[in-house]
Amino acid sequence: MTQVDKAVHGMWSGRMAFVLAATGSAVGLGNIWKFPYMAGENGGGAFVLVYLLCILLIGLPIMIAEIMLGRRGGLSPVNTMRKLAKASGQHASWQVIGWFGLLAAFLILSFYSVIAGWVVSYSLRSAVGIFEGVTAEGASAIFGELAGDAEKQLAWHTIFMVMTAAVVARGVERGLEQAARWLMPVLFVLLVVMVGYAMTSGGFAEGANFLLVPDFSKITGAGIVAAMGHAFFSLSLGLGAIMMYGAYVPNDMRIIGAGISIAMADTVVALLAGLAIFPVVFANGLDPETGPTLIFQTLPLAFGQMGGGVFFSTLFFVLLTLAAWSSAISLIEPCVAWLVENRRMSRAAAAVLVAMAAWFLGIGTILSFNHWQELTLYGKTFFEVADFLTTNLLLPLGGTLIAVFSAWFLSREVVCEELGLKSDRAFLMWKIAVGVIAPLGVLVVFVSRLGDLG
Ligand code: PHE
Repeated sequence: MTQVDKAVHGMWSGRMAFVLAATGSAVGLGNIWKFPYMAGENGGGAFVLVYLLCILLIGLPIMIAEIMLGRRGGLSPVNTMRKLAKASGQHASWQVIGWFGLLAAFLILSFYSVIAGWVVSYSLRSAVGIFEGVTAEGASAIFGELAGDAEKQLAWHTIFMVMTAAVVARGVERGLEQAARWLMPVLFVLLVVMVGYAMTSGGFAEGANFLLVPDFSKITGAGIVAAMGHAFFSLSLGLGAIMMYGAYVPNDMRIIGAGISIAMADTVVALLAGLAIFPVVFANGLDPETGPTLIFQTLPLAFGQMGGGVFFSTLFFVLLTLAAWSSAISLIEPCVAWLVENRRMSRAAAAVLVAMAAWFLGIGTILSFNHWQELTLYGKTFFEVADFLTTNLLLPLGGTLIAVFSAWFLSREVVCEELGLKSDRAFLMWKIAVGVIAPLGVLVVFVSRLGDLG
């Protein structure tokens, strides 16, 4: 049965191809754009510590569960959940996990593409040497000009969305695998170079201290929820993206090991990004609480002062474009696969349809940075609402349901067969990690938020 289903969408060529593609999904704007500004806004080290704990105790077990469900089901998340629920004698309403996932993926894609558009534009700006010798005020002014210009952002957003749809239209092996193969190693090396530069910037001790030494007086319940939400976002969990990629995984791959590799790579990239950025923030007297525009104001400064800055900054923003691209592809894939399965659409038509709809919604995010800046709901702009709804609510909710289903409702034979668990003890450990610790962790985080309100 699974073999037939897999033939519908294609298959990874092997273990390495899956790990690369899933890492390509996980590593993206979340690590390099979002993680630093969120850490900055939420007091640094304490946020980072909570984030790391969430990766380990909540993210990793759910990652393993998602890959497992995906491989077992072999279809898009909605249909995988329906099929697995039925096969285990459970109610078909478990497919709601898939529906939440499609909604979350779609919403995230809409704003993700706008930010990725900024990155594309920064690749070109770097290449023409705009940042050479730039000052802190100069860098802010350059960004402000882009943020204020809705039409320019729309053009970049359009370009990025077309790039995403184009790869997805080509299909799994040719499209996704190629994009992931060489990108990660190069990005990694470049980040190490930038951390090297940060060490000479004069703010390294302060930056590293801010990022790595927890000061719990600086974190709020909302900050703790944000750290957990970001663990889901950064690992691409809770919406079926990893489940979808898991559907293309060959049967002989060891899931647990693959999950650990992906989570580790993702975490290392985020920490490196933080170590590259905060020293520059402090060396130049910038405000760590700047928000979503943080990297666009700090990185050009660092590049502007470093030898070979034009080359390095162009390379960096190009690589970040590619990293965002491979993540966006995984965001659009579940929706596309669902349309292919249930509406008998071609991959190309489905990709164009989803991309167009998300593109349209993305306009709201663009306007959040200029004309609609004052238009808020509970003090949040359109972008902030989309981000909050997905990162802080839909992803943790979806992830928890995935964990509960995998641990308590999926039959033991399926779990043991998929994960290669051979003893009672191993199965018990699985149950505790996925069925108890992960869901309880999410609960504890949400309860800590109540402390804020009271
Ligand atoms: N994990 C990606 C990033 O950190 C974003 C993403 C979230 C991709 C959810 C797919 C699903 O940039």
